Amino acid sequence: MAKHRTILLKNIHEEGQHTLSGYESRGGYQAIRKVLDMDPLEVVEEVKKSGLRGRGGAGFPTGLKWSFVPRDTGKPVYIIMNSDESEPGTFKDRVLLERDPHLCIEGIMIAAWALQSHVCFNYVRGEYAFPFERFHKAVSECYEKGYLGKGIFGSSFDLDIIPHRGAGAYICGEETGLIESLSGNKGQPRLKPPYPAVVGLYGCPTVVNNTESLASLPWILNNGGEAYAEIGTEKSTGTKLFSVSGHVKKPGVYEIELGYPLLEFLEDECGGMLDGSRLKAIIPGGSSVPALRADELDGVNLDYESLQAAGTLLGSGGFMVLDHTVDMLDAALNFAHFYSHESCGQCTPCREGGHWIEKILQRIASGNGRTEDIDLIKDLSSQIGGHTICPFGDALITPVLSYIEKFPDDFYGKIKASERYLNVVN
Ligand SMILES: Cc1cc2nc3c(=O)[nH]c(=O)nc-3n(C[C@H](O)[C@H](O)[C@H](O)COP(=O)(O)O)c2cc1C
Repeated sequence: MAKHRTILLKNIHEEGQHTLSGYESRGGYQAIRKVLDMDPLEVVEEVKKSGLRGRGGAGFPTGLKWSFVPRDTGKPVYIIMNSDESEPGTFKDRVLLERDPHLCIEGIMIAAWALQSHVCFNYVRGEYAFPFERFHKAVSECYEKGYLGKGIFGSSFDLDIIPHRGAGAYICGEETGLIESLSGNKGQPRLKPPYPAVVGLYGCPTVVNNTESLASLPWILNNGGEAYAEIGTEKSTGTKLFSVSGHVKKPGVYEIELGYPLLEFLEDECGGMLDGSRLKAIIPGGSSVPALRADELDGVNLDYESLQAAGTLLGSGGFMVLDHTVDMLDAALNFAHFYSHESCGQCTPCREGGHWIEKILQRIASGNGRTEDIDLIKDLSSQIGGHTICPFGDALITPVLSYIEKFPDDFYGKIKASERYLNVVN
C-alpha cells in the first residue's frame, strides 16, 4: 500500500544538514564516489531502470532523456538544474535547496558523470534569495574541499557548478526560455525541435532537469534503480514531493510514495480540512492543471496515470485545496491575472489573448458580465491553446476553462445576477 516515504526529505530536519559536514555525517557524497568508478552509460542504465520521471511537470523519463544526448559531437555537454519553481502553488524545490543543498549538488554530480559534462548550472528563481544563498554556500564548501573543480574526489574528472539567479520570470522555468535567459538573452522560449538535448545552451547538447529529479539520484545510485522502481506504482515509480496549500490543517511540503490515495493523503498527511471548511475543489499539480471537484476524488490516486484518468495532471505537485468559501470565478481571475502578467510576449495569441481573457473575467466579476462572455472566453481560448511556441498558452487557458466546466454556477450565477440587476435599473 502506497504511503508516506522519505527519500528526499529524510534528513531535512537534522541539525546542520545544509552544511557539508552535516550532509557527509549522514552518508552524503557516497553515491558520487561509487558512480565515479562506474561506466557513465551504466549510470544512465541505472536511472532508466529506476523509472524516474521528470518532476518539473511533464513527467518525461529522466534516463530516456539522457540517452538522447549525442556523445560524439566534440562539443561540451551542459547540465542545468531547473530551480526556477514559479508555478503558483509549488514550493517543493525551495525546501530541497534550503534544507539539503548538498543533496542537489550530489544529484548534479551524478548526472554530470553520466553525461560527461564538466560545466553545470543551477538556475534559481529570482525571488528565492535565501535558497540561492544556501545553495551557493554549499557549492563554495565543495570547492574548498576539492569536491568541485579540478579532479573531483581525487579522480581525473573536472566539474564546475555555477549557481545562477534568475530575475523572477515564470517563463524562464520553461527549459528553452531558461536556456535563452542563461545565455544573456530575453527569456523567450524557442521552437522545438531541435530539443535542448541536441541543441541547447550555446548551441551545445544540454540536459535541463528539475531540482527534485536530480536530487532523487543519490538514493537511486546508492540503492539501485530496481529498488527505486519497487516504490510507487508500475509506471509512476518512486516518491514525489507535494507542496500543499489552502484550507487544510497542515499545509506544507510532503514526500509520498506515488500511488497514494488522494483522499487518504488529504486526511492523514494534510490533517484534513480546516474546522468549518467543506471541500470544494483540489488542484493537484499547480495552477496550470485542471481542478477536480470534491465529488470526483473517490478512487483517485496521486500518480501520473490515475490523475490523468481523472481528467487532470500531476504536474509540479502543487496541491491546492479549496473550500466552499472559494468563488471559482475569483480563482480564475486570479490565475488569469498571473498568466497575462507573466506572458513573455513573443506569441500574439498568448500576449493579447491572455489580457482579453483577464478583462472579460474582470467584467463578469465586477457585475457587468453577459451570458455570451463565456462563449467569448471559450472562443478566445481555442485560438490560444496549441497556437504558441511553448505550452504557456495552454497553461493560461486550462484553469479558466476547467473552472467554467466544473463550476458553471460560479460564473453563470454572477452573470445572471448582473443581468437581473441591469433589468431592474433600466
Ligand atoms: C511555462 C512553463 C514553466 C515551467 N516551469 C518549470 C519550473 O519552474 N521548474 C521545472 O523544473 N520545470 C519547469 N517547466 C518544465 C521545463 O520546461 C522542463 O520540462 C523541466 O525542467 C525538465 O525537467 P524534468 O525532466 O526533470 O522534469 C516549465 C514548463 C513550462 C511550459
